[in-house]
Amino acid sequence: MNITAKTKVCMVIGDPVEHSLGPVIYNEIYKKLGIEDQFVYVASNVTTDMIEDCIKGVRAMGIRGVSCTIPHKQAVMVFLDEIDGVAARIGAVNTIVQNDGKLKGYNTDWHGVIKPIEQITSLTGKKVALLGAGGAARAAGFGIADRGASLTIFNRSFDKAQKLANELGAFAKTLEELEGVKSADIIINTTSVGMSPADKETPLPKEFITSNHLVFDAVYTPYATQLMRDAKEQGATVIHGTEMLIYQGIEQFKLYTGHNLPVETMRQTLHKILNIEAGK
Ligand code: ATR
Repeated sequence: MNITAKTKVCMVIGDPVEHSLGPVIYNEIYKKLGIEDQFVYVASNVTTDMIEDCIKGVRAMGIRGVSCTIPHKQAVMVFLDEIDGVAARIGAVNTIVQNDGKLKGYNTDWHGVIKPIEQITSLTGKKVALLGAGGAARAAGFGIADRGASLTIFNRSFDKAQKLANELGAFAKTLEELEGVKSADIIINTTSVGMSPADKETPLPKEFITSNHLVFDAVYTPYATQLMRDAKEQGATVIHGTEMLIYQGIEQFKLYTGHNLPVETMRQTLHKILNIEAGK
């Protein structure tokens, strides 16, 4: 470690925050890129009632970058000097960057969904089925709508699906209508169904998946969710939830450090931390 008085501090704030992979990943990458004397990354558990004081502290201490996770992505917004246009439309900030005492909020979550898909196929003109209507669905939905895809949102609570669909010019459906995913080109799961320890569960019956589908699961623990295993068995193309972390992180890393992080560097680092075997 080569921390000096010039080292810039970046951090993640959330409640809870202990599970965050940010400090392990980013500090490892600072080392790999040989910039560990320039940047250090830490985590802080910040409760909602302390968020205003926290942002004042960030400003006062010249913290370079702040990653915001649950439940702060909306709450931080009023305390910032500027909000990037996309983040304003999504209504959530997951990245704050400080320059000359000014705090600007960004949203890089939507990159995490759009970019991995665009490595495989264009979204324009495609039919996309989005499972879930929470925070992750919102960021994904704005990206999908932005690319000119036709979007249908399936959610357990229909009113939430309807509300998000109205904002995005999308269709809303209940889980009883889930068989409708058969006509989609791309299926994206943003619900928490299948997440460890409930890793035998899946948000989608296997028989609804075909070999024509591209299936993306935002759940990344376990790496091979039941949905990913079913989709592979059905001959579909799959994108694991780790890809979302990778592409979101690359965008965030650039905002904090100015460095273009190679995808492979990020992927190798994350897979090593999560004990994911190469090629699995
Ligand atoms: P995130 O920020 O990760 O998107 P969230 O905002 O709490 O988390 O959203 C969770 C999503 O998973 C919601 O769409 C939720 O459905 P409801 O809107 O009906 O709550 C969905 N979800 C969670 N558990 C589910 C379950 N057991 N079956 C179906 N959907 C579920």
